[in-house]
Amino acid sequence: MGSEVIGGELAETIGDLDRSLAGHRRRGSSIGFIPTLGGLHRGHGALIEAARRANDIVVVSVFLNPTQFGDQADLARYPHDLAADRALAVSAGADIVFAPPLEEMYPAGAGLVTVDPGSLGDMLEGATRPGHFRGVATVVTKLLAIVAPTAAYFGEKDYQQLVIVRQLVADLSLGTRVVACPTVRDPDGLAVSSRNAFLGPSDRRVATVLFRALTAGAAVVAAGVADGTRVEATMRATVSAEPAVDLDYATVVADGSLEQLTVVAGDVVLLIAARLGDVRLIDNLRVGR
Ligand code: PAJ
Repeated sequence: MGSEVIGGELAETIGDLDRSLAGHRRRGSSIGFIPTLGGLHRGHGALIEAARRANDIVVVSVFLNPTQFGDQADLARYPHDLAADRALAVSAGADIVFAPPLEEMYPAGAGLVTVDPGSLGDMLEGATRPGHFRGVATVVTKLLAIVAPTAAYFGEKDYQQLVIVRQLVADLSLGTRVVACPTVRDPDGLAVSSRNAFLGPSDRRVATVLFRALTAGAAVVAAGVADGTRVEATMRATVSAEPAVDLDYATVVADGSLEQLTVVAGDVVLLIAARLGDVRLIDNLRVGR
């Protein structure tokens, strides 16, 4: 049977997951958790491997959460192949894949109570994707309540999401340790993303301009330039060499926060977001000073 070939356990309901985890919880085993939307790739794999190294049990959720998608077309074309996701999750070290159907997560449609990340959710990505981070914060809170992991693993690739999740876990006293994992990139620098599959061969090459702009900005910071607007201008200039790319923002924030800096000091993170045709890409790079 398929499940024997793939290995690992599949839990499709909260009850199934509870039964699978009950013995481990009684024994006090540590549980590492990686929430995903599905469409698993090497970036997700790295999170799963990090959880595998540090925990007794590793749970991966695959749930294409509709409440974080404002753009229904983006939701409709999102990759979903549970067998492929299970195979990747298990080969990276997952013990249990939690893949609930929509009704299991939202039995009455989207709930009345949601988790509002406040101003952190309105800026940057939130400015172009209104309600996105409310959807993320709500589903992450639900998943952490369901899995009750010792540690939850998130990618630095989605920097604003990581900042919001850390704040959410602290403010709501969720008691899970949040572990950040470095961005996995292709050899040419492009951050691995499910959305890269929508890029044709020439757009795929053009898309590397995000990483090239971050690298150029980082070089300016490393050279000692403290004027944030000059760092931003460098990133903008790099992107403007690719007319097909429509820049949304290029900015500098203090590491660990979304505070935009006009004076660059200490460790900073350069953030960039752009559109290439109908594909929206984001990336970021940390620079120490
Ligand atoms: P998804 O886009 O599937 O990403 C799941 C996790 O993988 C996130 O923490 C993301 O930052 C991380 N990730 C994606 N690409 C990565 C890369 N190239 N390198 C390192 N990590 C990478 O983010 C979500 O899902 C959802 O918003 C979710 C948190 C699951 C809530 O629905």
